[in-house]
Amino acid sequence: MPQQGANNVFPIFDKVVDRKNKELLLKQRGIVIWMTGLSGSGKTTLAIGLEKYLHDNGHLAYLLDGDNVRTGINSDLGFSEKDRHENIRRIAEVSKLFASSGVITINSFVSPTEELRLLAKNIIGPADFNLVYVNTPLEVCEKRDTKGLYAKARKGEIKDFTGISAPFEEPKNADLVIDAGKSTYEECLKQLIAFVLPKIKL
Ligand code: ADX
Repeated sequence: MPQQGANNVFPIFDKVVDRKNKELLLKQRGIVIWMTGLSGSGKTTLAIGLEKYLHDNGHLAYLLDGDNVRTGINSDLGFSEKDRHENIRRIAEVSKLFASSGVITINSFVSPTEELRLLAKNIIGPADFNLVYVNTPLEVCEKRDTKGLYAKARKGEIKDFTGISAPFEEPKNADLVIDAGKSTYEECLKQLIAFVLPKIKL
C-alpha cells in the first residue's frame, strides 16, 4: 500500500511517469508561453499561428484562450477583479499540469495587471513561465474592434472593460515584446517563433 502523504493525499506524483520521460517521448521541453495584451491586440491570432507552426514541425502544443476557457472551465466567472484573479489562477494551474506533461502550452489572456501575471508566474514556476506582451495600442484595438466590444464598452453596455473602464498595466518585465501595432502579422509571428524555438529544445 502506498503511504499517505502529509495532506491526506497519496503522493502519486512520485509514482507516475515523470516529466523528463514525457519530454523525451515528445522530444521537446514543456513550457508555458503566456501572452498578455488588450482585447483585440492580436494575441490569439499569433497564438494560433504559433500552435500551427509547432504542430507542422512535429511539436505538441495546446492553446488556451479567454474566449474558449470562459465558455467551459471558467463559465462561472465574469470580469470583476476577483473573477479575473480566479480565472488566471485556474488557467495557471491547468497550464502547470500541461507543461509538466511536456506539452508546449500557449496561453492567450488579457491578464491586465502585474499582480495577475505574477500570480500566474508563481503558480507555473519562473523556469517554465515566458511572458510575451503583444503591444498593440488601445487606439488600434479599438479601431479594429473585431468583436464590437469596444463600441459597447464606450456606450457603457459592458462594464469593467479592459482599456476603457478597467485598467491595463503594461508589463515591465516581459520576456518578449511584440509591437503588433507597427509590424505585420508575418513579422510578429516570425519574432514569436524565434523566441520559442530555443526554449523547447531538450
Ligand atoms: S482576463 O482579464 O481575465 O485575463 P480573458 O483573457 O479571460 O480576461 O478574457 C478576455 C476576453 O473576454 C476579451 O478578449 C473579450 O473578448 C472578452 N470580454 C468580455 N468582457 C470583457 C471585459 N469586461 N474586459 C475584458 N474583456 C472582456
